[in-house]
Parts: sequence; structure tokens; C-alpha cells
Amino acid sequence: MPAVDGTTGNSAKLSTSAVRFPVKLVPVPVKDVGVNAALKAQSDPSFEVKPRIFEEFALTGQVAIVTGGNGGLGLEFAIVLAELGAKVYAIDLPATPSSDFVAAVKYVKRLGSSLQYRPSDVSKQEIISATIGEIAAENDGKIHVCVAAAGILGIEADCTDYPANMFEKVMDVNCNGVFFTAQAAAKQMKQQDIAGSIILIASMSGSVTNRDMNWIPYNASKSAVIQIARSMACELGPAGIRVNSLSPGHIRTKMTAAVLDTQPEMEEFWASLNPLGRIGAVHELRGVIAWLASEASTFCTGSDILVTGGHTIW
Ligand SMILES: NC(=O)c1ccc[n+]([C@@H]2O[C@H](COP(=O)([O-])OP(=O)(O)OC[C@H]3O[C@@H](n4cnc5c(N)ncnc54)[C@H](O)[C@@H]3O)[C@@H](O)[C@H]2O)c1
Repeated sequence: MPAVDGTTGNSAKLSTSAVRFPVKLVPVPVKDVGVNAALKAQSDPSFEVKPRIFEEFALTGQVAIVTGGNGGLGLEFAIVLAELGAKVYAIDLPATPSSDFVAAVKYVKRLGSSLQYRPSDVSKQEIISATIGEIAAENDGKIHVCVAAAGILGIEADCTDYPANMFEKVMDVNCNGVFFTAQAAAKQMKQQDIAGSIILIASMSGSVTNRDMNWIPYNASKSAVIQIARSMACELGPAGIRVNSLSPGHIRTKMTAAVLDTQPEMEEFWASLNPLGRIGAVHELRGVIAWLASEASTFCTGSDILVTGGHTIW
């Protein structure tokens, strides 16, 4: 706590000598956008007047990795990052990528960007760390964006009977795997002095419990992801590295299809739990990933961004 200096009578002041943080004052970035651009345009006729918001989202020349990138949300995120100009590496379990991924590679190539596949296992620290190290080595050590989206749901079972091996498996992938991924990416960013962005895919299930769904380890793992993001954000902030979590609501992917295809009535039930009255589509997370990954969100760290159709407000 800062000490209160009461020696100045009525105008007591805080003594700065006892203030521990911030260790050094970091300059606030100055940018010729928005009002600053308007004022510059007024005083300097040579200043080019053009929309600048799209440039703030650009990832031109950057290297991005996305775990769980073989399909579902991860593949959608990989395409967004490639559209923004990043060279993207998707990491996932299978030795060879899915047919959706192969189509995405061709599409991204036509857009003038690059999307590559690397098999790996996020739940094994040495393995994922080596994979991320190899990707960095191919790019002069540089990784600018890391999205940790690999995850599993586990089985549905009552808390009193939940099997230990399945509990451990879910935690291994969703909690340990997300941490090992973020850890390896942060290491590369720190070594290269890159003010990168790390995005951990959590879930609204990390903040609320899905009604009538007995997914104890999944929910626990997602709460852990939110707290990993906060804790890493604190440690890495002085290096300029930002760490946030993104918590989607119900989105149709292979993961949720496991429930929706076997119990079709669940879609109506889940849809009834948010004010928009429907579940989400993967493309509805494109904007938030672009924002979190890019310069457009430079003052955002340690936040959990809920994108749920309003599920958690009821
Ligand atoms: N779909 C939703 O409604 C929803 C909602 C909230 C959060 N999420 C989260 O979003 C992320 C993506 O999920 P999704 O819905 O796209 O599911 P998905 O099953 O389509 O994708 C998950 C991917 O992770 C990969 N994966 C699993 N274990 C791995 C491991 N050990 N190493 C590397 N890759 C591994 C899978 O192979 C798969 O490609 C997950 O973390 C999930 O918990 C999804």
C-alpha cells in the first residue's frame, strides 16, 4: 500500500516512495488515428485522409499459431488470422489434416496468405513446446499471435460417479494443454521481445454451469483457463505481451454435434437459454478474434470476453 504523507496538513498526499508498481512508467502509445488524425489533417495538408480502422486490425508479416486448428472454432480462427495477413500454423492431433482444412489451405492461398498444418499434442508439454519451437525457428524465432483452442468435452456423468481417468483427460487437454501452449508461445515472444497476443479459448462454462449438463471437469477446466489468462497477463504485462481468454456460448461444431446430433431437442433447449433465442455459428467469433489478436485491442489484457448470445445475463 502506498504510504500516506500527513505532514502537509489538510492536503494529505500519497508518498510515491512506497509505490511498488508499475516498476517503470510505460509511455502511452500515440497514434495518428481517430481524433488525433482529424487534428493532424487540419494542421497538416499533406496528411493522408483515409479510414485507418482496418489497418489497426492488420496482421501483415506476423506469425500466428492456432491449436485445435484442424476444424471447428480453431480452423475458423486460423482463416481469420490468415485473412488479416498472418502466416498461420494450425496445430492439432491427427497426423494428416481434415478435408475442411485442405480446402481452407487452398482458399487462404488464393487470398495471398499461408496456412500450414503441424500435428502435435497440447497435453504433452515437451511435444507441444517442441512443435512451437520448430515453428518459431522457421520464422527467425518469431511468434506474434497464439490462439489456444484445442479442447475436449469429456463425457456427461453425475459428479458423484465421474470417472477419474476422464476427469484427468479433460484437465490434461483443456487446462494443462492450454497452459503448455501459452507457455511455449510466451517464451518465444519474450526471447524475441515481441509484444504478442495470446488468446486462450475458455467457455461460458468457466463462469456459469450449463443447466442440466453434468460436465464437471469441462466446467472446472474452463474456469482454470480464465484464471491462467489472468495470471499470465500479470506476469507478461511488463514484457508487453497480452493474454486474454475468449469464452464462447453454444456454437455448433464437432464438439457440440456430439450432443446435438444424438439429442436434437437440445438445440431448442440451449437456444431458449439466451435472449437471442438461437445457438451461435463459428463465423460469429471472427470479429472478436481479429480484435484480440491485433493492435485494435492493445489496452486489453487479463480479460475474459464472453460471446454467448447473452446466455450469461439471464
Ligand atoms: N463449440 C462450442 O459451443 C464451444 C463453446 C465454448 C467453448 N468452446 C471451446 O472452443 C474450443 C474449440 O472447440 P470446438 O467447438 O471447435 O470443438 P472441436 O472438437 O471441433 O475442435 C477441438 C479441436 O481440438 C483438437 N484437440 C483435442 N485434443 C487435442 C490435443 N491433445 N492436442 C491437440 N489438439 C487437440 C481436436 O482434434 C479438435 O480439432 C475448445 O476449447 C472448446 O472447449 C467451444
